Amino acid sequence: MVALYRRQQQAAHFVIICVLLLHGGSIVSADTPANCTYEDVVGQWTFYTTAMGYDNTLNCSAMPQSMFKGNYGLKLYFPSKAVDQHGNQGFWTLIYNQGFEVVIQGRKFFAFSRYEGKEPNTTSVCSETMRGMSHNVVGRSWACFYGMKQKKTNPKKLNTSAPKSKLLTSKMLYNSIIPPGY
Ligand SMILES: *[C@@H]1O[C@H](CO)[C@@H](O)[C@H](O)[C@H]1NC(C)=O
Ligand SMILES: *[C@@H]1O[C@H](CO)[C@@H](O)[C@H](O)[C@H]1NC(C)=O
Ligand SMILES: *[C@@H]1O[C@H](CO)[C@@H](O)[C@H](O)[C@H]1NC(C)=O
Ligand SMILES: *[C@@H]1O[C@H](CO)[C@@H](O)[C@H](O)[C@H]1NC(C)=O
Repeated sequence: MVALYRRQQQAAHFVIICVLLLHGGSIVSADTPANCTYEDVVGQWTFYTTAMGYDNTLNCSAMPQSMFKGNYGLKLYFPSKAVDQHGNQGFWTLIYNQGFEVVIQGRKFFAFSRYEGKEPNTTSVCSETMRGMSHNVVGRSWACFYGMKQKKTNPKKLNTSAPKSKLLTSKMLYNSIIPPGY
């Protein structure tokens, strides 16, 4: 099982990289203007969560704010250790400086880092995330969440003089990089 999941994930990585290359994009210039580094993201976070149990058609943008009732504290260390409020250990990784993924306690969370404004005048707010999604290790029981870091990082003004490709929606990127079977 585990080997199969690994293979699926590798295949998905390969596909996404091909898609980016085919469209002449570099990895750094994927689909969101955020540019957050490890330094920006490490630290103490709270994930505000909805109930679990949705399927993968879940649309977190449409989720009313009042549904984010849960909170889950976790600390992200350089380079990849994550420890939650109960002391459980897991892993996290940056995704192309645009967001990050955490795998802990049988769930995988992914969200893009927050950005504001319209290209080319955008600002990265790396101590917050946009709304993202989580699911369990067999790709079921989806939920929405967003993250807020305790220590705010200064918003970074970005100057992307040429608008970037909107090739990938966040859901496509999510589904491609992080297949439910992980
Ligand atoms: C992202 O930020 C890093 C570090 O601040 C910088 O070196 C890099 O050029 C930036 N990349 C883009 C695409 O803005
Ligand atoms: C998700 O919800 C938002 C806000 O209601 C909407 O604009 C968007 O089209 C929806 N996305 C999908 C894939 O249904
Ligand atoms: C971006 O910001 C600059 C400086 O604040 C402004 O002159 C320019 O019109 C803005 N461009 C867009 C497309 O909003
Ligand atoms: C953004 O970059 C372009 C091209 O490098 C430059 O002409 C423009 O003045 C820059 N704008 C700002 C607001 O820094």
